[in-house]
Amino acid sequence: MIVSRTPASTQKRCLSWRAAGETIALVPTMGALHEGHASLIRAARTRADKVVVSIFVNPAQFGPAEDFKEYPRTFAADRKLCTQCGADMIFAPAPDALYAPDHSTWVEETALSRFLCGARRPGHFRGVCTVVLKLFAVCQPHVALFGQKDAQQCLVIQRMVRDLNLPVRIAVCPIVRDEDGLALSSRNRYLSAEQRRSALALSRSLRDARRAHASGMPLGRIRRMIEREIAAAPGAKIDYVSIVDEETLAEITHSRKGQSILIALAVYFGNARLIDNIRLTGR
Ligand code: PAF
Repeated sequence: MIVSRTPASTQKRCLSWRAAGETIALVPTMGALHEGHASLIRAARTRADKVVVSIFVNPAQFGPAEDFKEYPRTFAADRKLCTQCGADMIFAPAPDALYAPDHSTWVEETALSRFLCGARRPGHFRGVCTVVLKLFAVCQPHVALFGQKDAQQCLVIQRMVRDLNLPVRIAVCPIVRDEDGLALSSRNRYLSAEQRRSALALSRSLRDARRAHASGMPLGRIRRMIEREIAAAPGAKIDYVSIVDEETLAEITHSRKGQSILIALAVYFGNARLIDNIRLTGR
């Protein structure tokens, strides 16, 4: 497996693959890879001739008070996992290799980014869209794979691809959970054993929400039920619990038959901000 450190050498290699008629799948990551990333890489393996995994902790998507410095950097383990999952290349640029010191071009999606995480993390999706577009330019993928755990990120990137006519397909892969239900996340490493036990309230409350929706409970009551259940978990500090229309991400209290609904939440345990979500269909 190739490890490529510069945008120019990576782009050259990807263009030569394309010229030889080979298709490319890209799995963009910030490293600290886990089984969720492994599932994306394996899915990529089935979709293209060449699989590129990018590993780059993108400073542009972190706020000044966020965990950019602490974000786990585990390149040796990441490399092993990429090899095991059959990746052909890791693109892992040095921190200053992707942004020129006077970088001044940004990509901003202005509708879906206003809600959920976008409302709490100003500039976050501007940083995500900018780096993802740069990764597309460097790696020239035919398809790029993202995890449903970052539901809003997937929708914002799909919108960017549509709006900018980018010639890349976006594949969204299911959330991977530990046996006890906790959604896998690089940030789970920040949790103490006690916080990890408490954090099970996230997936539990979403499972309860699915059952409550199936039995006809109105969305407003479901949201309050989730909030109560999470607030009762020791150490949990709710950032948001939102029930939204999946197309617009606007908050809803009632659903139409067949409507795509997203229940999304973000909760702090100490400094760890965890997110999770489920999708439902309006009744
Ligand atoms: O989901 C992530 O890990 C990041 O937001 C991404 C897509 C790699 C962009 O930095």
